Amino acid sequence: MSSHTAREFASSTTAKGRPQLLEKLAAQTAVIGIVGLGYVGIPLALRFSEVGFPVVGFDIDQDRITGLNGGQSPIKHIASADIATMVESGFRATTNFSEISAVDAIVICVPTPLSRHREPDLSFIVNTMQAIAPYCPPSEPIGHFELIA
Ligand SMILES: NC(=O)c1ccc[n+]([C@@H]2O[C@H](COP(=O)([O-])OP(=O)(O)OC[C@H]3O[C@@H](n4cnc5c(N)ncnc54)[C@H](O)[C@@H]3O)[C@@H](O)[C@H]2O)c1
Repeated sequence: MSSHTAREFASSTTAKGRPQLLEKLAAQTAVIGIVGLGYVGIPLALRFSEVGFPVVGFDIDQDRITGLNGGQSPIKHIASADIATMVESGFRATTNFSEISAVDAIVICVPTPLSRHREPDLSFIVNTMQAIAPYCPPSEPIGHFELIA
């Protein structure tokens, strides 16, 4: 994880037409949507929440969603107490992908297993894009960044 702050990211980016998003990122008021709440998505959600961002988590596993909303960690090395603190801070997890329309930034953390030819299986990402596309504004840029505040 980089040590850059959201403010540094906002001032260094050259993206045009997104002043509102950049301001929200700098102010840490942007709602962060994490899709895929596993070994990568949960720590990411914890970190965004810890530094003050509102976070909504999305997954297709209803048991996982119910557990997380009840303050239970599905991952051994992540304490349930940390999940509970995140829930108390406002984190909520859902299987309802229409709620993507209420988030400002989306981070996709779904599996990309390697095939026997060592090619990444992108079907989880394709499924995710199909699930969220109806709820994304048509002009939403798709890209990636490597910073966590
Ligand atoms: N785990 C690691 O150490 C690690 C390290 C580097 C990169 N990565 C990459 O990060 C990504 C996520 O890996 P992970 O280890 O967190 O996976 P994981 O299997 O722990 O978690 C993935 C989560 O995504 C959910 N999911 C599956 N399909 C979905 C869909 N269509 N919509 C919403 N949620 C869906 C699953 O239910 C699960 O909870 C992968 O691309 C992986 O290659 C993982």
